[in-house]
Amino acid sequence: MFKRVEISAPGKLILCGEHAVVYGRKAIAAAINSRTHLIATSTTDNDTRNEFILNLNDISQTITINQASFKSIQQSITSNDLQEILNHVLNSSSNESKHYKAIIFMLLSNRGINWDIFCNLTVNVSSEIPLGSGLGSSASFSVCISAFLLILSGKVLLKNEWSEHELELINSHAFCLEKIFHGKASGIDNTVATFGDYILFEKGEIVKFSSNQKLPLLVVNSGMPKNTMEQVLKVRSLYEKQTEICEHIFDAIDKIVIDFLRILRHNEANVAIASDVQDLITMNHGLLCALQVSNLGLNTIVGLAEQCGFAGKLTGSGGGGCCLILLRSNEDSMQMIEKLDEMRFEHFEVANLGSPGVRVDDVVI
Ligand code: MEV
Repeated sequence: MFKRVEISAPGKLILCGEHAVVYGRKAIAAAINSRTHLIATSTTDNDTRNEFILNLNDISQTITINQASFKSIQQSITSNDLQEILNHVLNSSSNESKHYKAIIFMLLSNRGINWDIFCNLTVNVSSEIPLGSGLGSSASFSVCISAFLLILSGKVLLKNEWSEHELELINSHAFCLEKIFHGKASGIDNTVATFGDYILFEKGEIVKFSSNQKLPLLVVNSGMPKNTMEQVLKVRSLYEKQTEICEHIFDAIDKIVIDFLRILRHNEANVAIASDVQDLITMNHGLLCALQVSNLGLNTIVGLAEQCGFAGKLTGSGGGGCCLILLRSNEDSMQMIEKLDEMRFEHFEVANLGSPGVRVDDVVI
C-alpha cells in the first residue's frame, strides 16, 4: 500500500450552455487551474487506530467511520448496480450529511475495500476553488473521493496516467456523488473535473478538445452562495409552465454554443472573432435572465462590465455564484476592476483555461 497519496482535480468554468444542457442541448466547459486536493496518509505504526477519518478542511467537518458502521453500511444492500445503490443512499431516511452519504455510496459500490487498510487512513481535503461559487468545487471533491476510493478497491491503479476506462469509472462514480449533492445534474461538472481541458457536452456524450484561442477571462464572485439543485428545480418549474418558450430559449442557447465551439476550434485570433465572442457571451446572459436564474448581484456585475465596454455572463447554475467577463488584451480593464473593487466583488483572472483533469500528484510508498 502507500504511506501518503496526493490526488487533485480541477474546478471548471461553464463558458456557455448551462441549464439548456439539462434539456439535451450542448454546453462548453473548461477546466481552470484552481484545484481540490486530497491528501491521504496511512498510519504506519503497529498501533492501529481502527477508524477512518476524513477531514473536510474548508467546511470544518470531520467524518469518521468505525468498524461497526463500516460493516452495517456494507450489509445494507446487496446490489452492485450503481443506480440501485444511489437510490438506496438517497432514500435512506438518515439525516447524515451529503458528504457522509457520498462515502457510503463509494463503500457500497466498492465492496472490495479492505477494512484493515481503510481503518488506518486519515484523509484531508481542501480546495483552492471558492465553495458554492459555481466553479465546480463539489464536482472536484466528488472526483477526488471517487478516484481515491476506487484506488483503494483496486479497480483503478495507483499510477500517473490513467486509461480512458479508469477515467470513465472515476467519472461515473463521481456523477452519482454529484446527484447526492445536487439532485438532477447533467454530469458536465464532474466530467470536466475528471478529464480536464475543454469539454463539449451533449446528452451525456462528451467531446474533449483543446483550443488555441486565448480567452482572457475575469471571474467575479457575486459573494452570494448558489445552490445548483435549487436553480435546476427553478428552471424545471418554469419549463413546466412555459414549455414552448423555454424550448426556444434552449435552442437559442444551443446555437450560441455551436458558434462558440467554431470560434474555439478556429486557429486564428482576430478582432472579428473577439467581437463575435462578446456578442455570444452577452446573448447567453440575456437568455439565462429569461430563464430567471440571474439576480441583482449577477446583473450588477454584468452591467458594470458592459458600462466599461466588456461582455459578461453568469457562469454555472446562477442564483448567486460567479460571472465571467471577457477581457481583451488591447483594452484597459483598470476602470472596470476599480469599480468591482469599490463594490467589494472578489475577482481573479483565469490563466490556463483547459487545465489537466484528475491526477495523482504524489505517492510515498
Ligand atoms: C451547473 O454547473 C450547470 C447546470 O447546467 C446544471 C448541470 O448541468 O448539471 C445549471
